[in-house]
Amino acid sequence: MQTRIHQDVSEAARLLSAGEVVAIPTETVYGLAADGLDEASVKRIFFLKGRPAYDPVILHTDQLEKVWRLVTEIPEPLLMLARKFWPGPLTLLLPRSTEVPDIVTAGLPRVGVRIPKHPMTLQLLSLLDFPLAAPSANPFGYVSPTRPEHVWKHFAGRIPLILDGGVCTQGIESTIVGMEEGLVVVYRLGSLPVEAIQEVIGPVILRTYSTSRPEAPGMLIRHYAPHKRVIICDDLAETKSSQEDPACAFITFTSDLDLGPRSRWLSSSFSLEEAAANFYHALQTWDEEKDIHTIIIEKFPDTAQGKALNDKLRRASAE
Ligand code: TXA
Ligand code: MG
Repeated sequence: MQTRIHQDVSEAARLLSAGEVVAIPTETVYGLAADGLDEASVKRIFFLKGRPAYDPVILHTDQLEKVWRLVTEIPEPLLMLARKFWPGPLTLLLPRSTEVPDIVTAGLPRVGVRIPKHPMTLQLLSLLDFPLAAPSANPFGYVSPTRPEHVWKHFAGRIPLILDGGVCTQGIESTIVGMEEGLVVVYRLGSLPVEAIQEVIGPVILRTYSTSRPEAPGMLIRHYAPHKRVIICDDLAETKSSQEDPACAFITFTSDLDLGPRSRWLSSSFSLEEAAANFYHALQTWDEEKDIHTIIIEKFPDTAQGKALNDKLRRASAE
């Protein structure tokens, strides 16, 4: 199969309506999309990703009115979040309607829904009369793609189209939120900061780890991981001076140090948002460098997107 990379939204709509899988840009990461109400189309996504059947996928749409077809209820606190943050990097777990195929939710009682904030994909969704099921466009367990070329690396020759929406502005996945017994629970830390959620609805519960059957595989201990070894450190300046091995590369949030050619810093302006946007690309760049066997990453400040980055870091470095 020939894979094309272009910006023709109506061609993407045509392919998706014919049951094909197309890579789409969002503000968080690229997704591997298909008709979310058609079981056979969603199955192809699972096959392409090598994704286990127990791992549900998120449905994407462009309007709150279209969400109602997919769910039986939107509890008030979650509706407040939807109104405030959609379109945006927020996924809500809501009681599913009978329209949603089992394969989408992996048989779970809730469906994950989000309205992404990317002009090209919003335009695409407005042309469709079905939602798009879309997990991140990477092989299961690997680092998520934030540029068309990341998707190309894994799926060239296997899908007809990568819709080229440029570099993702947020760069890490959406924050996943739901309710349990009247309480709001965050299941995956993502680019919407927990602090922003709490400003709207007050305190929330964090439940982002799971050892057995995960509520969300982003909860798995090892996930988002490159092939090379990843080590977390508290202070890169200190670590680097004792670490002269030329096969080690470094990633840091921001730094005054001259870190040399094997280093990348993620923000020049102390911006965690900018760091998040650059994080996966830095990880993949070092992962592809054949002379590097270890990637050493400095912990992020533990606020806003830094919390999510530290979480990804822990999972990328888990043995
Ligand atoms: O930013 C994002 O959310 C990106 C873009 C493409 O929208 N998508 C994404 O999808 O990260 P994925 O499949 O890579 O991660 C979605 C996570 C998975 O860990 C999945 O288990 C969880 O969401 N999830 C989806 N539906 C769920 C459900 N019904 N119940 C529990 N967890 C769910
Ligand atoms: Mg993923």
